[in-house]
Amino acid sequence: MASNLGGHMIARAAPVIRGSIEAPGDKSCSHRALMMAAVADGRSTIRGLLDADDVLATANAMAALGAGVSREGDVWRIEGVGRDGMHQPETPLDFGNSGTGVRLTFGLAAGYPISAEFVGDASLSARPMERVLAPLREMGAQAEASAGGRLPVRLSGGRLRSIRFAPPQASAQVKSAVLLAGLKADGVTVIEEKEATRDHTERMLRAFGVEVEVSQRDGAGPVVSLLGGQTLKGTEAVIPGDPSSAAFAIAAALIARDGGVEVRNVMTNPTRDGFFKAAAAMGADLRAGVGGAATGEVCTSWRAGPSALKGIDLDPAVVASMIDELPIFAVLAAFAEGRTRVTGAQELRVKESDRIKAICAMLEANGVGVEELEDGFVVHGCGPGGPPGGGRVETRHDHRIAMSALVMGGAAKAPVAVDDVSMIATSYRDFPEHMASLGARIEQCGNDA
Ligand code: S3P
Repeated sequence: MASNLGGHMIARAAPVIRGSIEAPGDKSCSHRALMMAAVADGRSTIRGLLDADDVLATANAMAALGAGVSREGDVWRIEGVGRDGMHQPETPLDFGNSGTGVRLTFGLAAGYPISAEFVGDASLSARPMERVLAPLREMGAQAEASAGGRLPVRLSGGRLRSIRFAPPQASAQVKSAVLLAGLKADGVTVIEEKEATRDHTERMLRAFGVEVEVSQRDGAGPVVSLLGGQTLKGTEAVIPGDPSSAAFAIAAALIARDGGVEVRNVMTNPTRDGFFKAAAAMGADLRAGVGGAATGEVCTSWRAGPSALKGIDLDPAVVASMIDELPIFAVLAAFAEGRTRVTGAQELRVKESDRIKAICAMLEANGVGVEELEDGFVVHGCGPGGPPGGGRVETRHDHRIAMSALVMGGAAKAPVAVDDVSMIATSYRDFPEHMASLGARIEQCGNDA
């Protein structure tokens, strides 16, 4: 099978999905490790960093801000700029497709006396930035966004004051940007989360020697606080495997006719495990095995096999812990018996695409009954025979829609084509090779597929 991630692809039904793969490095942890190493005192090494376009964009931005960034095989070495050493970048910082890269770097840079322009690709330039810029302005940064609060953004940092902030959205990117700015602010920065979101910033900051306090609340997310003026110390970081990427091979095994798959080294953080819990609630044959450790995180290996799935009403309280897995979860729902309902997921509207629309269009094009809701969707599962397939899915510059559609094609009655797979490299460059090694039949195809 072609490994070239250009152009169109088609996935045909595979009789058996079997084998063992290692999950690629976690994207969220990779961005954070690079950013923290870049502003730390001294040298850091990072192992297991995700080799994907989003993360490489962050590495380039950190170099443009003055960090020494080099790579030898799997090991990245970063010479941090230290407390006051961030450079004025000479050219705009280009974050490509990466929301995490650009939004967290706003926060990281806001406490330094530099001025920088931030740009991205068409998809990133259509996403909201005010959610991060507004609290950073309140802390004392100056930020000018383009019409509608979009990129390009010009941000001028400087002396910051701490704030107490309750983000209106359940967003780890907003929380993290404010915490990173808080490192350089006077006083204690406090975030009151509406719901718990991924806590990799808090865990990674501790690994770099920063004290972060987290207090849990009943009926609301945690309160996270840190005192400004703390210095990050260079460290040796190990990145865990990405549960969001692991979900694709696991889903392929659950909907397969035959076989069984192991995905090794998958992070098991409770703020990221919603997909695994939801699949189990649908009746998935899914077992956790032996694990390992990474910086601030714990890993396991998952085994999955063909399963008779049943539709569920997804608890809105678990949505944040599987926000990036909802496209592949919708594919599971298409193979389940009965109805699956997802609500409380309005944040999907502002991801790499409007993912509620993209998910509904992906399923509809392949003969699956679906209803679009303002904050989610309802899937009328086709049962174990799976969906008719035969559709051509518009990926809308969205890597997770592309990979979900190709997984669906591996077990649908007729092949599923996608119009563009180039953006899969933003998060999971090895997806075609990993899937091929498990027996998937994903091939390059012509424009008229
Ligand atoms: C991320 C947070 C989530 C997630 C994104 C990665 C992060 O975004 O969808 O892929 O690394 O903090 P939001 O903060 O916008 O929910």
